Amino acid sequence: MQGSANLNLMIKAARRAGRSLIKDFREVEQLQVSTKGPGDFVTRADREAERLLREELSAGRPNYGWLGEETGAAEGKDPTRRWIVDPLDGTTNFLHGLPHWAVSVALEYKGEIVAAVVFDAAKGELFHAEKGQGAYLNDQRMRVSGRSRMNEALFATGVPFGARPALPATLQDIARLMPGSAGLRRWGAASLDLAYVAAGRLDGFWERGLQPWDIAAGLLLVQEAGGFAEPIRPGSSMLETGSLIAANAGLFESFTKIIRNEG
Ligand code: IPD
Ligand code: CA
Ligand code: CA
Repeated sequence: MQGSANLNLMIKAARRAGRSLIKDFREVEQLQVSTKGPGDFVTRADREAERLLREELSAGRPNYGWLGEETGAAEGKDPTRRWIVDPLDGTTNFLHGLPHWAVSVALEYKGEIVAAVVFDAAKGELFHAEKGQGAYLNDQRMRVSGRSRMNEALFATGVPFGARPALPATLQDIARLMPGSAGLRRWGAASLDLAYVAAGRLDGFWERGLQPWDIAAGLLLVQEAGGFAEPIRPGSSMLETGSLIAANAGLFESFTKIIRNEG
């Protein structure tokens, strides 16, 4: 699969950040047993990954804007394009030595995501897509699953932790969804949840209160793999509210009704 120059730059940057994170991840496994724990170390690993991404992407495209979880927003000379980056999605997994986390890089053009890379460095899986060009997992074309019966469908979500306001609504969603579905997973990395819907491993995903860098790349993967994604509140923006529903074509309508509580 021949990607654009932008996509190739994104892949190069994500692989570079991934290599740095993998080295740190091995270290985290050692630090688990220390009394101080790996907390500060992981914060540094996360920041270093964003620094590498920014260095690589800004060297290639000095005029583009930036939105990164660790370093925030910066307007570019070209106001139509910006990178949206989560250097380490799945921090809690990383911190606990669980090999399920990813580097997420998206390119936005005039408010629309046009290229996406989600790199799961621990498993060596690179998901990518460009608008109108399909979605790929390690250069194999991805398609969403073909399941259309709710009782056979496997879903994922994120359950808000701490005192986040979306917890009660999420628990109600789960209560409505579980009785009629084949199950629910909480993997802890929203970018990979969306990538797995795109790859047909999961049939649907929803979550409330995410950030743009959690979902920008994953949304394009789902759409380019033939799936659908919409905001939970109709008419709102997924990137702004961070509350979204994504699924294959056959299940999208019934799944959406359950999450929106439309009876
Ligand atoms: C988190 C993950 C998780 C989601 C959280 C996010 P982080 O991102 O995507 O799956 O449920 O809300 O904050 O903090 O690991 O980059
Ligand atoms: Ca994240
Ligand atoms: Ca993060």
